[in-house]
Amino acid sequence: MKAVILAGGIGTRLKPLTFWTNKYLLPVGTYPMICHGVAKLREAGFRDLILVTSRTALGGFADVLGSGRDWGVSLTYVVQEEAGGIAQALELARPLIAPREKFAVLIGDNLFEESLRPYREQYERQKDGAMVLVKKVADPRRYGVPMLDPDSGRILRIEEKPENPSSSFCVIGLYFYDQEVFDVIDRISPSYRGEMEITDVNNAYSAAGRLQFGELQGWWTDAGTFESLEDAGKRLKGALP
Ligand code: DAU
Repeated sequence: MKAVILAGGIGTRLKPLTFWTNKYLLPVGTYPMICHGVAKLREAGFRDLILVTSRTALGGFADVLGSGRDWGVSLTYVVQEEAGGIAQALELARPLIAPREKFAVLIGDNLFEESLRPYREQYERQKDGAMVLVKKVADPRRYGVPMLDPDSGRILRIEEKPENPSSSFCVIGLYFYDQEVFDVIDRISPSYRGEMEITDVNNAYSAAGRLQFGELQGWWTDAGTFESLEDAGKRLKGALP
């Protein structure tokens, strides 16, 4: 199975660190952040990775990861010229995914302790539709918050960054789709902040009763703030699968 890593964007919440480098090249433990995602995906059985990033960050990724050879993966780079949202970044991978091909999408600042293999296998067993992972968190307000139907294993709806979250779960940045997701992206429009939102894509699946979920068991963070970046550095010091 292929995986798309999204590593564009501006890293606003990590300024001034991101004045001089891309967020994904900042250190987490003893490695640049991006290395953790690449190593985790490899350990889960993904060998063919597509990395979407900005024009200015591309050179840094090539320095760190090269062709992927040293990391046991094959890497294809795609440039997102302007940050137009997670779904717009994903859309750029369209020519590299075959009809009906299943694949994973990882937001590059999402860091994990446990293996992602069981979730890949769960999605391989799923007949059709999409799958996301959820996790209980102390403050869900800065994430997508799902309304779950545990009986069917489906998500009924996701609310992006709600002021009054309806549950203590959040949707984390590892998604599973098949090639049909690109038709779904074609049908959504930019949000109030002018971005193509991944939550709108996922809600199109949930409205059709086609969004399943898995519950992530181990530690996870999105390392998008100073606090979570520091926490991740301590947790993952020296760690690579
Ligand atoms: O981390 C999990 C959360 O990720 C989910 O709970 C939310 O539902 C989902 O919307 C997302 O929330 P964020 O607030 O973290 O999204 P953000 O717009 O900050 O984008 C996250 C990363 O995606 C960003 O660090 C780089 C990448 N990205 C983002 C944009 C807007 C791109 O590669 N290109 C882009 O145009």
